[in-house]
Amino acid sequence: MENREVVRLVGVSKRYYLSSSVYVDALIDINLGVRSGEIAIVMGPSGSGKTTLMNIMGTLDKPTSGRVIIDGVDVTDADEDYLSRFRLERLGFVFQQYNLISQLTALENVMLPMLLTGRYTKDEAREKARLLLDLVGVADFMNNRPNQLSGGQQQRVAIARALANDPSFIIMDEPTGSIDLASSYLILDLVRLLNRALGVTFVIATHNMEVASIGSRIIYLRGGRIVEESDLKRIREEFSKLRVDPAVVIKSYARILDLEERRLRRLGLDVSEVERRRAFIDEILKGGSE
Ligand SMILES: Nc1ncnc2c1ncn2[C@@H]1O[C@H](COP(=O)(O)OP(=O)(O)OP(=O)(O)O)[C@@H](O)[C@H]1O
Ligand SMILES: [Mg+2]
Repeated sequence: MENREVVRLVGVSKRYYLSSSVYVDALIDINLGVRSGEIAIVMGPSGSGKTTLMNIMGTLDKPTSGRVIIDGVDVTDADEDYLSRFRLERLGFVFQQYNLISQLTALENVMLPMLLTGRYTKDEAREKARLLLDLVGVADFMNNRPNQLSGGQQQRVAIARALANDPSFIIMDEPTGSIDLASSYLILDLVRLLNRALGVTFVIATHNMEVASIGSRIIYLRGGRIVEESDLKRIREEFSKLRVDPAVVIKSYARILDLEERRLRRLGLDVSEVERRRAFIDEILKGGSE
């Protein structure tokens, strides 16, 4: 698959001032790129700067110095109006505490980012949201509000929501930090499947070695600095057994592509990306595993 750089940090530092003379250097001269198709894992002890790094990559926070480039766009000095639109269209977020909107149903939570772009009709958004909930395995609960869902189910809704606008990459900060082990495995399987079969790119901050084991790469932070990067392929092989049925996920995704193609044609937009992805999953469905 393609491997353009989706995010690049150039000499990024972040200093938090606690008073006019007391400060914390949360990040120090971070140089880091993430390519399309990766699962980049960020590990490090508590306070090492993981969340700060996630927030800066996600344009939720600005560096004190250095540049942040996403999809080739330097967003370092962009204003909040521009950035909120940019995040909506290009980024997906999954947080430890799910951050679903409590007044909305699961379905409505997933529809919302599509409706906010103005590029989906309500019917299109509803249909795609249903398929996304199907894909993550919680379609039976689509009319439930967040407080009527388990933590694991809420996190799967959050993943469906993160996928809604087909982001360049998805940022996850401790995605399994608040859920039980069995649900964590489901989330990890989903992430792995979304990455391997559908090419979705992830940057995941975690303390958990099993989460780290699904990464294509690990970035260690200590005291705000990158310590080392190492290839996790070998560990990943040890966790190669999936508990999610790939056929179910891929079938839902094929239907999402049909919907996307109709929508793009309605808008008179280019459908070549959709066709490329369909060809890719057709290959998978034909029987080859990757
Ligand atoms: N808004 C803030 N104001 C002041 N200091 C902050 C702020 N956010 C983070 N820090 C400090 O920056 C450092 C890095 O914090 P960060 O939250 O990025 O760590 P972390 O690696 O995500 O930790 P954890 O594993 O506990 O989530 C810490 O020393 C923290 O106290
Ligand atoms: Mg954190």
